[in-house]
Amino acid sequence: AQSAKESLYIVSQYAATFFVKQLWETDEGKAIGLSYFKERGFREDILKKFEVGYSPDVWDAMTQSAVNSGHNLEFLEQTGLSIKNDKGKIYDRFRGRVMFPIHNFTGRVIGFGGRTLKTDKNVPKYVNSPESEIYHKSNVLYGLFHAKKAIRDLDNCYLAEGYADVLSVHQAGVENVVASSGTSLTTEQIKLIGRFTQNVTILFDGDAAGIKASLRGLDMILEEGLNVKIVSFPDGHDPDSYMHHVGAGAFKIYIENNRKDFILYKANVLLKEAGSDPIKRAGIIRDIVESIAKIPDPIKASVFIRECSSLLEIEERILLTELNKMRSAKL
Ligand code: CTP
Ligand code: MN
Ligand code: MN
Ligand code: MN
Ligand code: MN
Repeated sequence: AQSAKESLYIVSQYAATFFVKQLWETDEGKAIGLSYFKERGFREDILKKFEVGYSPDVWDAMTQSAVNSGHNLEFLEQTGLSIKNDKGKIYDRFRGRVMFPIHNFTGRVIGFGGRTLKTDKNVPKYVNSPESEIYHKSNVLYGLFHAKKAIRDLDNCYLAEGYADVLSVHQAGVENVVASSGTSLTTEQIKLIGRFTQNVTILFDGDAAGIKASLRGLDMILEEGLNVKIVSFPDGHDPDSYMHHVGAGAFKIYIENNRKDFILYKANVLLKEAGSDPIKRAGIIRDIVESIAKIPDPIKASVFIRECSSLLEIEERILLTELNKMRSAKL
C-alpha cells in the first residue's frame, strides 16, 4: 500500500493541477485570476513555470472535484486543503484566490499560498497551507526547486520575502532566488541554502518591517558561517514592485550593482536611526561588532574588523578588544 505521506503528495498535486486548470480554462479564472496576474505585469511563461493557479469562489469546488476523481477526503483534510466545520460540512481552505503552489526542492507540491484579490483590509492578504506531514514551513524555501541549479552555477542565492518577488526576479532573468515566505527566516532555511552556496544576498522589502527582518536575517546568516550582502530598495518598494517599476533590464543591473556589505548596510541603517544623538552613534559601533562576533571563522571576522575600522574611523585595536569581550561572553 501507498504510504500516508505519498497520498498527501498526490492530493496536493491534484489540487495544484486543478487550480492551474481553473486559471487558464474557466471563465471565472480567466476573468478574475489571469487578468489579475496580467495587470501586475507577469508574463505567461513565468505563470506557467511556477504553476500558479486560481481557486474558484465556491465553498467546496476543489474538494468536490478531488473526491469525484476518487481522492480520499481524509488526505485532503490532512493537507489542510479541505476543512470540516463544526457541523461536519466540508469546505475548501482556498476560495477566490490566486494560488502559488509550494514545491519541495525535489519539485513535489507540498503546500500553497493563496492571495486575495480583494483590497478589503479585513481580509488576510495571504492564506497559507498549515503544517502537515509533508509541509514543514520552517524547512522550506519558496522557489528553491526552480532556483537550485542557478544558485549552484552562480554561487549566490538571492533571498526575498514573498511569492511575487520570486516570480518577478525570475522574470528579470535572475533565476537564483528564493523566498522565506509565510514565516520569518529560520536557521533551517539558511542551512538549506548552505547546501547549494555559501553566499546569500538579501532582497527584503524596503519598508520598516523589511529592514528589521534584514538586520535579523544577516546576523542569522553570519552565525551559520555564510557570507551575506544586502540590496535595499527605495521608497518602500519590494523586489516585485521595483522590477515592474524600472523594468527587467534595469532591475537586473540594480541588484548586481547595489549589493552592500553587511557592515556598510548596518552602518547606514543605524546611522539614519541614530540621527545626531552621540550616545546612540557610539552604540552603533558595538552593534556592528556584535554582528562580526557571530562569524564563526576568526580570520574572516578579523577582515571585517579591519573594514569596520576604516569605515567608521575607529582604531582596529579598540574594535578587537570589543570583539574579544563579546566572544568570551558567549562562551
Ligand atoms: N505573508 C503571509 N501572510 C500575510 C502576509 C504575508 O504569509 N498575511 C507572507 C507571504 O508569503 C508574502 C510574504 O509574507 O509573500 C511577504 O509579505 P508582503 O510583503 O506583505 O506581501 P508581498 O509578497 O509583497 O505580496 P504582494 O506583492 O502580492 O502584495
Ligand atoms: Mn510541479
Ligand atoms: Mn512587506
Ligand atoms: Mn512585499
Ligand atoms: Mn509585493
